[in-house]
Amino acid sequence: MKVLLLFGLVAVALAGTTRFEGEKVFRLKPVLDKHVTLIKDLARRVQVDFWRPESAELVTIDIDVDIRVPAMYLDMVYTILQQNDMDHEVLIEDLQATVDAQADNHPSTRAHSYTKYNNWDTIRSWIASISSSNANLISSQVIGNTYGGLPMTVLKLGKTSSANKPAIFMDCGIHAREWISPAFCQWFVKEALSTYGSDAQMTSLLNQMDVFVLPVFNIDGYDFTHKSDRMWRKTRSKNSGSSCIGTDPNRNFNAGWCTTGASSNPCSDTYCGSSPESEIEVKNVANFIRKNKSIIKAYLTIHSYSQLLLFPYSYTYKLAADHSELLKVAEGASAALRSLYGTSYTSGPGAATIYPAAGGSDDWAYDEGVKYSYTFELRDTGRYGFLLPESQIEPTCKETMLAVKYIAAYVQNNL
Ligand code: ARG
Ligand code: ZN
Repeated sequence: MKVLLLFGLVAVALAGTTRFEGEKVFRLKPVLDKHVTLIKDLARRVQVDFWRPESAELVTIDIDVDIRVPAMYLDMVYTILQQNDMDHEVLIEDLQATVDAQADNHPSTRAHSYTKYNNWDTIRSWIASISSSNANLISSQVIGNTYGGLPMTVLKLGKTSSANKPAIFMDCGIHAREWISPAFCQWFVKEALSTYGSDAQMTSLLNQMDVFVLPVFNIDGYDFTHKSDRMWRKTRSKNSGSSCIGTDPNRNFNAGWCTTGASSNPCSDTYCGSSPESEIEVKNVANFIRKNKSIIKAYLTIHSYSQLLLFPYSYTYKLAADHSELLKVAEGASAALRSLYGTSYTSGPGAATIYPAAGGSDDWAYDEGVKYSYTFELRDTGRYGFLLPESQIEPTCKETMLAVKYIAAYVQNNL
């Protein structure tokens, strides 16, 4: 009886959750034009999930292409690879096993932890408690609700002052499945609060500037990755005339919108939306930045994976007016990051470093006048991809802190 009840509960808990039994993640290495064509054909014929780059349209020759392949298509994919002599590796042998292993054995913990992937409910109560327990250094404001009605809260870190302080804006979790990203924003808030007064740089930063932190940008999507589909990327808004859900928030900003590296198909993972800022989450953030434009000196947005530090532009190959300064700061930040554990980052403008892709928040913020605009792609380079184990949260956050503090110090010294 007890066993039956337990079985029933487990079955209910699993119902509606996407399982990934037998699915693999491949790294394909297209070195001929025909390889590129094959990958695009494959994407058209069967449902494969692009991890890097994020969609078939972005595939070019000589780049690594990481894709998730459902079990039923494995034979077919192997045949195609063999017949056409395309080099490949298997990054993840059994995706469900890797998903299960990512949460290092805490099936139902609800307590907040900086070294675990907290779900939205846990982050939401963490936001409430941390902003009320540190009144002299932190305040919060809701900048609007998500499509699903969840509150988007921006935390403001900084010593209270009557003057209008210059500020840095940082967001995490634009893409739902990049779980290390919100983990970093939480880590940053903790570090800021706990090292203010002892760490000279953090003290000086928070005395002179404010740091706005949006811990989870795409809350609806993040919540969905915890409850239903771990591999979801986009928002959760309905699309008229299509049964496919969601828009890519990082293709929805008004920066060369939908001209390159984005899809106008609502079923694509890089769907640019029905118009710029069609997504309420994008509109809320854009409105906040527009309203605070005169004080916001830097915009940082945290993604994963690939270990990159990117800056404008991505919607064009043209170099930004501040290209050499942006590059110099990115290289300094990457060196600071590497100094801790040797983790190596590549830096450069988005279009030339990875691929052209319009509608991103970094390009938009830059064109609004926020000069120091950077996109981080955190660990790793594909061993685990989006499924980075919890044991890597701490080292990833520690090294990333060094890069963020490097950029912040530079901005502060160049106000
Ligand atoms: N992987 C990120 C994305 O595709 C890179 C963003 C770089 N910036 C950009 N504006 N495309 O969204
Ligand atoms: Zn991303």
